Amino acid sequence: MNLVPMADILNKANEGGYAVGGFNINNMEFLQAIVQAAEETRSPLILQTSEGALKYIGMDYVVGMVQAATKNTTVPVALHLDHGSSFEVIMQCIRNGYSSVMIDGSHYPFEENVRLTRKVVEAAHAVGVSVEAELGRLGGTEDDLSVDEKDASFTDPEEAEEFVKRTGVDALAVSIGTAHGVYKGEPKLDFDRLKEIKERIKIPVVLHGASGIPEADLKKAVSLGVCKVNVNTDFQQAYAAKVREVLANDPEVFDPRKICGPGREAIKAAVIEKIMFLGSNGRV
Ligand code: 13P
Repeated sequence: MNLVPMADILNKANEGGYAVGGFNINNMEFLQAIVQAAEETRSPLILQTSEGALKYIGMDYVVGMVQAATKNTTVPVALHLDHGSSFEVIMQCIRNGYSSVMIDGSHYPFEENVRLTRKVVEAAHAVGVSVEAELGRLGGTEDDLSVDEKDASFTDPEEAEEFVKRTGVDALAVSIGTAHGVYKGEPKLDFDRLKEIKERIKIPVVLHGASGIPEADLKKAVSLGVCKVNVNTDFQQAYAAKVREVLANDPEVFDPRKICGPGREAIKAAVIEKIMFLGSNGRV
């Protein structure tokens, strides 16, 4: 596969003051739409699969499709595991050609999160694969991962500094008020916390749960040092809305290409919009 380590993409973004999307793939249409959007805007790209998507699509299909999609790409692309839950699943992804992995030990006590992350970093770095970790817990739902509001917790800047020093991770996902999935109320981001985190850690900071975050807030987060912004729900909603519209407008339609094709175009338009907000267009 024609892939680069995620750290190559993110270190440039960190220096350049922009962010790159970590865009989730759910099926072939998502993959095609996202790659086309990155090509057209000349943006570096991080394609990511959750464990749920991996289960749904299958490892061989993910790898085969990404191989096909990146065969002729002219922008740098990383393939990243989103929210890896164990050392085992991370090893499977590395063996199958992923150029980046996330180990999500955010639900463990601090010391256990450090231990697990350190172990993944040692193994991944030995073969040139980048590692993202998470400290603090986001609320909301992503696939089988559901965190109740009351169990969500913000990232402590001092702990973040110690965590990065002790683990050697390439990028750190932080919790500053975003949530996975659809927001129940108005999201309120703790920009002061983000500023303090960024003063203490120099590596790229990652914002998960970016769907539904207003453009101005996203831009502010990027200006304060966020270099990777994860988006899934916004694109799923764009796809579903278009498919619903097609079905409602034509009760006779049954060809999946006539149903999913317009859905793919809707994803692409939403991805292009997000790339523009993040400022990663033209950065290759
Ligand atoms: P959203 O689905 O809320 O955009 O979150 C995506 C994400 O953070 C993937 O890790």
